[in-house]
Amino acid sequence: MTLFIANWKMYKTYNETIDFAEKHRYELEELSANKTKVIIAASFICLDALGKIFNKGPIGICAQNCASEQTGAFTGEVDASSLAQIGCTYTIIGHSDRRRLFHETNEMVAAKVKILFKNQIRPIICIGETQEEFDEGRTIEVLTAQLESLIKILDAEESSYCIAYEPIWAIGTGKTPNNEELENTFEWIFNYLRHEHCTLLYGGSVTEENAKKFLQIPRVGGLLIGKASCDFQSLKKIVSLL
Ligand code: PGA
Repeated sequence: MTLFIANWKMYKTYNETIDFAEKHRYELEELSANKTKVIIAASFICLDALGKIFNKGPIGICAQNCASEQTGAFTGEVDASSLAQIGCTYTIIGHSDRRRLFHETNEMVAAKVKILFKNQIRPIICIGETQEEFDEGRTIEVLTAQLESLIKILDAEESSYCIAYEPIWAIGTGKTPNNEELENTFEWIFNYLRHEHCTLLYGGSVTEENAKKFLQIPRVGGLLIGKASCDFQSLKKIVSLL
């Protein structure tokens, strides 16, 4: 099963999100068939309505973040149990937007992953290096630090989860790693984790033109698509490649 995560970030308003879902529901469900699964990561406020529209069908409902604590005085945060209650079965954690703009640390990412497992939600954990780290040949060093804080939790867990390798310099820039770089990095992540229930995803400037190249990299089990997933025809073309 190849996963296609549509990360809508804060691109769509509530109305735009619901309109998209209602308009394309049947086609989306058709796309999310035997070999493929489409998962929509929308803003918190849309998830309940999306859960009702897709009604436990083949489309996965995904949050873009969650609180690192189960409950308590955390004004403005959203807890994982509430996400589970409204039908959210996946959550993106540690996206570079959150690490960079909202100062999320590897420790915070680990705490969130733990809470998600506890609430039977599959984490989609984002990792990746900056342009400077890439230029200095430090990709593996950075990924090691990002995964090290998680490895105990992941080793102890039997439920499935995803690791999305998203080079920060590739997100929203149109730049992407070459095949050799991708093959080496994915092979390294695969060997580092060696969990059967882990799906590895690529993310960063995925388009209908380049998606095939990523899907052909060994160990890649799906894509995390930002901008290109906001347009139905382009999302459809990417998913239909399989
Ligand atoms: P992009 O975003 O496809 O627009 O580069 C990917 C992501 O940030 O998840």
